[in-house]
Amino acid sequence: MSRRYLIAGNWKMNGSLPANAELLGELALQQERYPGIDMLVCPPSVYLESAGRQLGGNMQLGAQNLSDQTKAGAFTGEVLGAMLAELGCRYVIVGHSERRALYGEDDATVARKFAAAQAAGLVPILCVGETLDEREGGGAETVLARQLGAVLGACGIGAFARAVVAYEPVWAIGTGRTATPEQAQAAHAFLRGQLAAQDAKIGDSTRLLYGGSVKADNASSLLSCGDVDGGLIGGASLKAAEFLAICASAQALSTN
Ligand code: PGA
Repeated sequence: MSRRYLIAGNWKMNGSLPANAELLGELALQQERYPGIDMLVCPPSVYLESAGRQLGGNMQLGAQNLSDQTKAGAFTGEVLGAMLAELGCRYVIVGHSERRALYGEDDATVARKFAAAQAAGLVPILCVGETLDEREGGGAETVLARQLGAVLGACGIGAFARAVVAYEPVWAIGTGRTATPEQAQAAHAFLRGQLAAQDAKIGDSTRLLYGGSVKADNASSLLSCGDVDGGLIGGASLKAAEFLAICASAQALSTN
């Protein structure tokens, strides 16, 4: 089946009102050139409302994190999925390696956040990926199976009909060291196989994004891999020209 490319910008903890306006203004001006793909921006949560007002027609809004709770209450500093949906978010990133490594989010927490996102009508973008040590020790697939399996176990395969999975090798994030297209394709095929083993249709239709030092000059070779359906872009999503060039690569490969 043909899966529509999703090019998602994870701004991380970057931006300011003027810088966002400039970046989003440029993206909104150009987005019509990429009708065959979905463009997504994920700014810090405090900027979601203003960013939502500056999107072009082909652009969607996503958050970078959400609470694992499904009801409002006494959870100081947390943001409920329903609040993100109210601001126009359609997607939310869960289980990013920075959250796992720096904020102690374990597989069970990530699974609860995935479920909380869906309970609010948001599409979770579940990030999975191995560290360099894990890859060099030959355990990359074990890690991917464990991280994906935790969510499959908690939420069931049916939940993946409304989810995106991002393969982000930790050693490639923000390092300038990208997975080769062969490495990306192998990991994506493995992840798709894990899903397909439980439900062939969902395995076939779930979009799998690659993330980790995607840039204008390597996007095309990564996006042309059969099981790579888009990118989760960090650093390069903060520069309009770079992000748009990645969108152009996806559009050129798109059959839509
Ligand atoms: P990067 O980040 O593109 O800066 O490597 C990707 C990510 O962390 O989602």
